[in-house]
Amino acid sequence: MQYEYILTEAAYKPHIALIQLNRPKELNALNLQLMQEIKHALATFDQIDDIRCIIITGNERAFAAGADIKQMENRTAIDMLKIDQFETWDQIRKTRKPVIAAVSGFCLGGGCELAMTCDMIVASETAKFGQPEIKLAIMPGAGGTQRLTKAVGKALAMEMVLTGKFITAEQALDAGLINRVVPEELYLEEAVKLASEVAAQSPVAVRLAKESVLKAFDSGLQEGLYFERKNFYMCFASSDQKEGMNAFVEKRKPQFTGR
Ligand code: CAA
Repeated sequence: MQYEYILTEAAYKPHIALIQLNRPKELNALNLQLMQEIKHALATFDQIDDIRCIIITGNERAFAAGADIKQMENRTAIDMLKIDQFETWDQIRKTRKPVIAAVSGFCLGGGCELAMTCDMIVASETAKFGQPEIKLAIMPGAGGTQRLTKAVGKALAMEMVLTGKFITAEQALDAGLINRVVPEELYLEEAVKLASEVAAQSPVAVRLAKESVLKAFDSGLQEGLYFERKNFYMCFASSDQKEGMNAFVEKRKPQFTGR
């Protein structure tokens, strides 16, 4: 597939693939095609064994300033229902490999929701997070009321969603929305560092562990614990588990193969 609105590099760094949103003039506003392209790129990278972690980024000025308002302006509820754009987002969520958002500048509306759909967020000091949909007389539709609330708690989520106010990267870090804040010139490099730390682990264990952490978002404790336990036992079916434990005993660095 030829992409129009994203740039991709399957071998950006060892075991790390990159997806860069590329509608800079529109502050990377997420139109339907761009979302389809992200979905396609993620599904493709998910199938490539050598890739162990994926980074999604924008540019210094904007990660993404939300869903494309111009594309939605004249739509009816039935148009929205038929297009059912959030089905694409559900597919994005199903990516098995860890996905890290490297965020600078505006990270708003659907942009913030896209970052929250990723597994971790690394931000530049200039990043601004917000769900400003209320100012358009709509509300978040791609997880903003759910994932934001789970990440930062009711008080801040309610304030952000009902007033549309933005928060800074430092505030987002304090609130538990993101993982790291670094100077603007380092945010992508920092995301690569984090991705490399993940990529150094066993891909099998990483996949099972990611699945298990996500399970905590949509299950009760007991169900989540059973799920975790099954995945824990499953790790023992991998040769990486033997290698990891053997390397520990032999006091050497493990070599994980994803088998
Ligand atoms: N959709 C479409 N175009 C957008 C856009 C968006 N979400 N955000 C910015 N743009 C366009 C602007 O229209 C402008 O285009 P023109 O040059 O053709 O006029 C260009 O990007 C640059 O933007 P500004 O001139 O507005 O830049 P600024 O620095 O003055 O302001 C901003 C930046 C505060 C981010 C402002 O652009 C803004 O408020 N954007 C909209 C943010 C928003 O409301 N996002 C939520 C969208 S709805 C949604 O996401 C629903 C959902 O849950 C999925």
